[in-house]
Formats: sequence, structure tokens, C-alpha cells
Amino acid sequence: DTIVHVVGARPNFVKMAPVISALERRGAFRQVIVHTGQHYDARMSDEILADLEFPVPDRFLKIGSGAHGEQTAKVLVAFEEVLRDEQPVAVVVAGDVNSTLGCALAAAKHGIPVAHVEAGLRSFDWGMPEEVNRVLTDRLSDLLFTHSPEAVDNLRAEGVVDGRIHHVGNTMIDSLRRSERTARDRRAWAQVGVERGEYALVTLHRPSNVDDPQQLMRIVEALDGLAHRFPVVFPIHPRTRARLGEAGVNRLENAGVRCIDPLGYLDFLSLQSGAGAVVTDSGGVQEETSALGVRCYTFRPSTERPITLSHGTNILLGDDPASLAEVQLVDWEATPSAIPLWDGHAGERVAEVLINNYALTQAFAAH
Ligand code: UD1
Repeated sequence: DTIVHVVGARPNFVKMAPVISALERRGAFRQVIVHTGQHYDARMSDEILADLEFPVPDRFLKIGSGAHGEQTAKVLVAFEEVLRDEQPVAVVVAGDVNSTLGCALAAAKHGIPVAHVEAGLRSFDWGMPEEVNRVLTDRLSDLLFTHSPEAVDNLRAEGVVDGRIHHVGNTMIDSLRRSERTARDRRAWAQVGVERGEYALVTLHRPSNVDDPQQLMRIVEALDGLAHRFPVVFPIHPRTRARLGEAGVNRLENAGVRCIDPLGYLDFLSLQSGAGAVVTDSGGVQEETSALGVRCYTFRPSTERPITLSHGTNILLGDDPASLAEVQLVDWEATPSAIPLWDGHAGERVAEVLINNYALTQAFAAH
């Protein structure tokens, strides 16, 4: 019996690797991995996959970049063909990118059960493309795997019955725990020429921050200000690099900001682990810093991951670039109060539910 796993963009690889390897150990299904190709660069895809020791995908859909409608539609068309070929008993999707929604929609229309890893997250900001993807994917899913109690509450509030919700914990943290020691030992900070604990690591790629030229200009000014206080390391996402242009990158470099290309999984984890502070508008980075005990400043008006505020090391800055002046390097290695079920074993719990659920369906079918 075939199960199809979908990955498409950088964070999907990190969330799905533990699920695929847990199912592999159980030997329960024939696993087919589909890479939509939403992210395709060596830096955004191949290097991350290699660091995670991710199995080579069975199908590569070559979707590439494009406007939301175009990208999602291409996924829908190409994935329908995969479903026809493979006839899976279930499709597993993760996170909130366009590939997640496209594949969930294709599967639901074919009457194939959908399982969603990282269900129930809500920023309540309908202007975020990811929020649209999350809400719709959850609505299309039969099995909803949650990583925090508020995700369970959000799903219940939307009328999802308890039988579909499985509170399994955070598979992204499984990947982190597996690689943490190797990442720390890499000392990626030394390669960038900064001292452990004495730099801020910055990542920014949200359309709301980088697609508006005025907002981006004010962010550049604020980062210039920060770089006068301490070293700033900025691995620049392709979307952000395109918006900054050469002039923007030069200005940052002249201010002393270390502008580098996106990094592989291990190098980026290493830089996070050694940072005095992390400034980000990413979702996953809020979680990873919470697990590493590193101060995170989230440069967004809202977070769909409030547990990282209450139980972790995250501070929500809002999206006014003036607030970046509040960033401080924190000289502690916090032992964050462990977030329940962010324990390195979430992938195994997902596998267990998938196997049991399938066995149950088979038993019913036999009657
Ligand atoms: C996507 C996700 C976002 C996630 C992010 C992680 C959606 C709606 N957004 O945003 O939720 O946080 O991935 O990185 O799915 N590009 C390259 N090489 C690549 C991929 C992209 O150069 O391998 C460039 C292209 O110019 C593209 C732009 O980056 O137009 C944006 O890529 P896209 O996949 O549309 O969205 P992200 O901003 O990466």
C-alpha cells in the first residue's frame, strides 16, 4: 500500500524528514516522495536535503516560481497525475506553503485521505498567503497533526471533531535534536568571522516586509543601525535579494552587515546555536530558537506560534522597523522550559497514528 509524501519548499524538508524515516523503520507502507520543485536552487533545496539525509524524491514536479495562482495551479495539475499513477491510500502534506495547499486539494478531490503535519496554526492575519494555505489545508484534511495546545484549540473552534486531531508534537524539533551536536561542532560563526554569542543573525523573507520598497528601505536603515552596535549576519533569501537589488546589498555591506547566501540546514542551525540574538520573520526559526535556548525577536505583527512566546525564548517585535533598535544580544544559554512533546519523537507518533488509522480503515472495509 502506497503513501505519498509531499515536499516543496525549504521548511517542508525539515518537517517531513522525521516522518518519512519513522515510517521507513516501521516498514508499514510503500513510501513515494514527491518534490514539487517550488524551491529548486541548490541552496534552497539540494543542500538542505543532503544535510537532512533525506531520501532522493521519487517524483520531481518542476513547478518552480510564479505568482500564487500559477504556482498553486501547476502543483494541482502535476500532482493529479501522480495520484492517478500511484493510487495512494493517503497523502501527507506539511506546513503552509503553496505546494501544501495544491496537493491537499488535488487529493481531496480524488477522495484520497489527507494528513496534515503542523495543523491548526493560525496568525489570524488573512493578508498572509500562508494563513490562507493553513486554513484551507486543514479544512481538506482527514488527519490533523498538531504541535501545540493552541493549535488544537484553533481546530476545535473551527469545528474540527476531536477524532481527527492528533496532538503529536513538533517534527521540526526532531530534525533539530538529531543534528544539534553536529551543527554546534561546525562553528559556522567562525567561517563568517564572528565570535560565538557576539552577533545577531537576521533572516527576512515575508512579502509584507520585503515586497514593499518603503518598508524594506526602513528595515535596511534599522539593520545599518544594529550593525553599528554588534556584528550582524544576514543570509539573504532569494526573494529578499531580488527586492534589495545590488544597491541595497551594497548599502548593508558598507554598514558592516555580513550579507551571505542562504545556508544549508546544518550551517544555519550552527549559526542559530551560536547567536546572541536572532531576528526573523520566519515561522520555523521561532521554533528552533525556542528549542535551542537562543533569544529570538520576531519581526512581524503576529505569530501563529504563540507557544514560543509563552514557553520559549521568542519576543514579538511588531513590524515597525524602529522596533529593531530594541534588539540586544543576550548573554545566556537559556535552558528553555521544554515545550511539551517537542522532544525529538514527534515523527514516530505521526507514523504510529498513520499506521493505526490505516489498519482501522482496512478493518472497517473488511466488514
Ligand atoms: C515560500 C513560502 C513561505 C515559506 C518560504 C520558505 C508560499 C506561499 N510561501 O516563500 O511560506 O516561509 O517559502 O523559504 O508558499 N526563488 C529562488 N530559488 C528557489 C526558490 C525561490 O531564486 O529555489 C526565488 C524566486 O525568485 C521566487 C522567490 O524566490 O520568485 C519566491 O519564492 P516562492 O516559492 O514564491 O516563495 P518564498 O518567498 O520562498
